[in-house]
Amino acid sequence: MKRVGLLTSGGDCQALNATMRGIVKALANNVDELEVYGFMNGYHGMIYGDYRLLTSRDFSGILTKGGTMLGSSRTPFKDIRKPDEKGLDKVEAMKQNYYKLRLDCLFVLGGNGSQKTANLLSEEGLNVIHLPKTIDNDIWGTDMTFGFYSAVNIATEAIDCIHTTAASHNRVFIVEVMGHKVGWLTLYAGIASGADVILIPEIPYHIDKVLEAIDKRTRDGKGFTVLAVAEGAVCAEDLKLSKKEYKKKMEKNNYPSVAYELADQILKKSGNEVRITVPGHTQRGGAPCPYDRALSTRLGVAAAQAFLDGDFGKMIGIRNNKTVRVKLNESAGKLKVVEKDDQFIKEAKLLGISFGD
Ligand code: F6P
Repeated sequence: MKRVGLLTSGGDCQALNATMRGIVKALANNVDELEVYGFMNGYHGMIYGDYRLLTSRDFSGILTKGGTMLGSSRTPFKDIRKPDEKGLDKVEAMKQNYYKLRLDCLFVLGGNGSQKTANLLSEEGLNVIHLPKTIDNDIWGTDMTFGFYSAVNIATEAIDCIHTTAASHNRVFIVEVMGHKVGWLTLYAGIASGADVILIPEIPYHIDKVLEAIDKRTRDGKGFTVLAVAEGAVCAEDLKLSKKEYKKKMEKNNYPSVAYELADQILKKSGNEVRITVPGHTQRGGAPCPYDRALSTRLGVAAAQAFLDGDFGKMIGIRNNKTVRVKLNESAGKLKVVEKDDQFIKEAKLLGISFGD
């Protein structure tokens, strides 16, 4: 008899269910007797003993379902060593629940923060296998995270829709794309939708350069401009501010996010009125795209194989289209950012896309 636990932690994304299905189907086909426990709402369920014994029926028909059947929540890594309000030691509680259920392995589907906790539990002696989930694609050690391409599709469609109305009205539009501190999602969706300006956190923008790009389009007889702007993008001047000063500046000017700051800068300097669209959490919702279904199934099966091989303390990633096992303590805490000299950036610049630098 083998017993395994599953949890989905952090901001959700598409293909969480598909990944769990991949793990469990591959295990069920290769293990004589299997018990699968699902911890509810991420690490919260593991801390407080909120779990469900899952059956094969739970894993049927979920390949195409968005969200996560286990629920998810954020349990910040920085607080994980701090006792809860009743004095409970969270790490100890998770270990106790793992041992109480006599688990042979815990599969953690999560992003950067969840990965750090997975690594901690592994260092504490639990058998842990991590699967890289996030629309941000910012996990070090894997070319791709599941959820990313589904989000690219949604952000691309949003920018496509903006394109037609921007063209009809000869307007300047900003579409603000998710991605947290990295620009992968904006870069891919921006290129896929033919955005004229792409601003990402890794390349601080200069407002004069952005205006130059808009002016150039006007001079070329194109009445509209579409800007794909990452939520984490920042102008070069703001980089000089501390986090606190930046927050204060945004609040003082009533800028809910960088898109509003940029729109205001454009208006003040050029008189151009700018419209803003923020697709927000739609980018994390709905069914996984076919690529993510295939990727997450492959990662799930590879995770099951790592379990069968007794190879723990690993993240299952994909590199050069092959699944790989990456040591958790190598990947945890590192961010995969867009390098300024990435080939993709160079190609985009050759196309005439402005990055505001
Ligand atoms: O990490 C995934 C993500 O969707 C980021 O792109 C975004 O910055 C963040 O989560 C939003 O978090 P929340 O759902 O907590 O608002």
